[in-house]
Parts: sequence; structure tokens; C-alpha cells
Amino acid sequence: MPHRVKLSTMVFLVILQGAAVVLFCGWYVPLSSPCGSAPSDGKVHVLLLSSWRSGSSFVGQVFSQHPSVFYLMEPAWHVWTKLRNTGAHALRMAVRDLVRSVFRCDLSVMEAYLPERHNISSLFMWSHSRALCSLPACPLTPRGHISNQTQCLHSCDESGLQGAQEACATYSHVVLKEVRFFELESLYPLFQDPSLDLRVIHLVRDPRAVLRSREESARAFVSDNAVVLEQRNVPAAEVQYQVMQEICRSHVRVSERALRKSPPFLKGRYKLVRYEDVARNPLQEITAMYEFVGLDMTVQLKEWIHQLTHGKGKGSGKEAFKITSRNAADVSQAWRTTLTHSKVKRVQEVCQEAMSMLGYRTVHSDKEQKRLDVDLLVPREPYRFSWLPAKTDDPAKS
Ligand SMILES: *[C@@H]1O[C@H](CO)[C@@H](O)[C@H](O)[C@H]1NC(C)=O
Ligand SMILES: *[C@@H]1O[C@H](CO)[C@@H](O)[C@H](O)[C@H]1NC(C)=O
Repeated sequence: MPHRVKLSTMVFLVILQGAAVVLFCGWYVPLSSPCGSAPSDGKVHVLLLSSWRSGSSFVGQVFSQHPSVFYLMEPAWHVWTKLRNTGAHALRMAVRDLVRSVFRCDLSVMEAYLPERHNISSLFMWSHSRALCSLPACPLTPRGHISNQTQCLHSCDESGLQGAQEACATYSHVVLKEVRFFELESLYPLFQDPSLDLRVIHLVRDPRAVLRSREESARAFVSDNAVVLEQRNVPAAEVQYQVMQEICRSHVRVSERALRKSPPFLKGRYKLVRYEDVARNPLQEITAMYEFVGLDMTVQLKEWIHQLTHGKGKGSGKEAFKITSRNAADVSQAWRTTLTHSKVKRVQEVCQEAMSMLGYRTVHSDKEQKRLDVDLLVPREPYRFSWLPAKTDDPAKS
């Protein structure tokens, strides 16, 4: 009967197809993963996880200017701003889900947080993203050129987010900078998601330098502080220290989780970077970060970084480089002469564990604090963080 023949042919074909899939996937799974659901297609997703005033704008630019990168700065700013009367703990999953959607170039998620009639300029710090100033989002900057933020602000706005979304799809790397994660656990589903290839660069900075920088523009942090402190009633004089304590605890929590107690899916996906090391050896540290996420250093970027870190890059957008690598070494030391020793003592107390873990030496007197020839940075071997105490270089040397 024709029906029967058809059925056995079908069965045969199904078996054949099954065998083909097994063979095909057997060969290809280790390379990319066309056999899982919605594979990442070789696309790499980078979370630049940092905290306020820790040099993440500068490091963000280093990624943003790369021709293979679609970069957005702080998409979760919108979540915290829209839902400002709640706490970081309650918002973390909304932030996580927003980040996951943006990694997939789905910007529709932003609509929950934007005004009804929005355009590209509604995105927080949008002109910091070179990709939003280049084709296909905007004809201004040819790909591979360094983008000029001022010009971008004036010529690359567009209504709706469609253009940004289409642009995102054309890049091999999506890089998001966030200061609003205080742990890694909420990101576990992203590490395990076969459609994402997530890497985390955890950028930290000396808490004393952070405190000084935050004090310079304290008013800008009022709303975020309240979210960090879960809307608790905290005496004004205490807010700064309690926030610093939360930030420092998060550094410990995140790096311990990634380096000491890491689940298998985190292996090779986390890199800890100290801003002071970037300031001292920019090209070397930036090259290592690029390598970690699979980006090549280009001649053009090398030149740009050189200019930026050797005092010729002043015109490249003052806003983007408020903390430039060039003055970062001075800025990193500035707390030593401008913060009172009692404040330094206080922040050292609340951040003690993080400081010893990350290699920032404490000072014990006003005199020691002001002796700028005493280096407070415990040296690290390049490319790798060593946990072994007393096995690093002679601390007196550098
Ligand atoms: C985008 O929105 C801003 C502010 O509402 C407006 O001034 C600007 O003209 C808009 N641009 C476009 C291209 O729609
Ligand atoms: C960026 O553009 C502005 C305005 O056109 C200009 O003044 C500035 O010099 C430019 N910066 C660089 C680095 O080219």
C-alpha cells in the first residue's frame, strides 16, 4: 500500500536526518554551537561590571571605540531612575533581564522605562556609544574611525530605537557597562544561556580614591544612594560610608564567587581589573582585556590610546574622559592630600576586607597618608591576579 511505503520511507528519512544531526553536532559543538537552541552565533557578550567613579567610563570608551563593538553605557540606569523608590535587591532581576535583552539586541525592553515618544537621545549617555554614531545607526563616523561625541550629539539622534537595534545586530561584540550589580548570582542564567557567550570584566578602584571622587559631586548620588541602601533611614553623615561599605562588600562577594568558589560555568569568564593598573600600564592592560573577550588591538586604537595617555588627546571629548588614563595616576593619589585622615580611617574600616583582598595598603597616620613616595598599591603579576600572600614582588620596589 502506498500509504505504508510512504510511512517506512518517512521513518528511514527521519532516522537518516537524526544520524546527520548527531554527526554534524558531534563535529561542531566544540567550535560554536549550532545545535543548541538559539546559539550565540559566535557573538560575545561582555559585561563591564564596576562601580561609580571607578574609571569605568574610560574603560567603557576603550571598548566603545573598537570597530567590532556595540556598546551601551548603563542601560540599567533607566530601571533605577524609573523605579527610584525601591531598593537594589528588588531591582536586580529587572536589571538582569534588561541586560539579557540588550545583549540579544532587543531594545524593546527599554520601552518600559522610556517616555512614550522616545528617540535614540532618550538612551542614557547615548553619544558615548561609537556604534550609535556609525553606520548603520548614523552615517557620521566611518567604522574603524574614532568617534567624536560632540559631533555625534548633534547629528545622530533619530526617533525610535529601531536604528540602534539594527546596528547592534551587525557587531560581533556587545559590551554593556553597569555599576548596578552587587553580586554575580543573579547573572547565572545568563552564563548558562546557550544564546549568550558572557564574559565579565570586573573593574575595581581604591575605595579611598572612589570616596574622594564621590564627594566631589555628592549631590549626583542622592537617588542612587537611597536605592543602594534599600531606602533605609541613614543619618546624612553616615550615608557615604554605608554606601562605600555596600560597594566594597560587593567587590568581595563578586570576586570570591568568581575566583574561589566558582561554579563550572563561570570558569574562564571572569577577569578582575584594578583601575590603578590600567592607569599605570594602559596599553598592556587594555590589550589583556581585549584578548580576554576575543578582540584584536588595531593600529588605530593603539595610536588613540597612546594619545589619550600621553597628553595629546584633550580634544577627544572632555565629557567622555573626565577620568582620563593620563591623569588617573595623579587623580588616584589626590585623596592622599585632600581627604582628612579621619575620613580615610573610616573608609579603610568599612572597606578593610576588600582592600586587603584587592591589594590596596592601608595607611595608619596622617603622615603616612601624605608621604606620596610610599606606594600603596600591592603589585600584581600582569594578566593574572595572585591570591597568594607574600608571594608577590617585593612591595617596596615599585
Ligand atoms: C528627539 O527628542 C528630543 C527631545 O524630545 C527632540 O528635541 C529631538 O528633536 C528628537 N529628535 C528626533 C530625531 O526625533
Ligand atoms: C570633536 O568635535 C568638536 C566639534 O566639531 C571639535 O571642537 C573637537 O575638536 C573635536 N574633537 C576631536 C578630537 O576631533
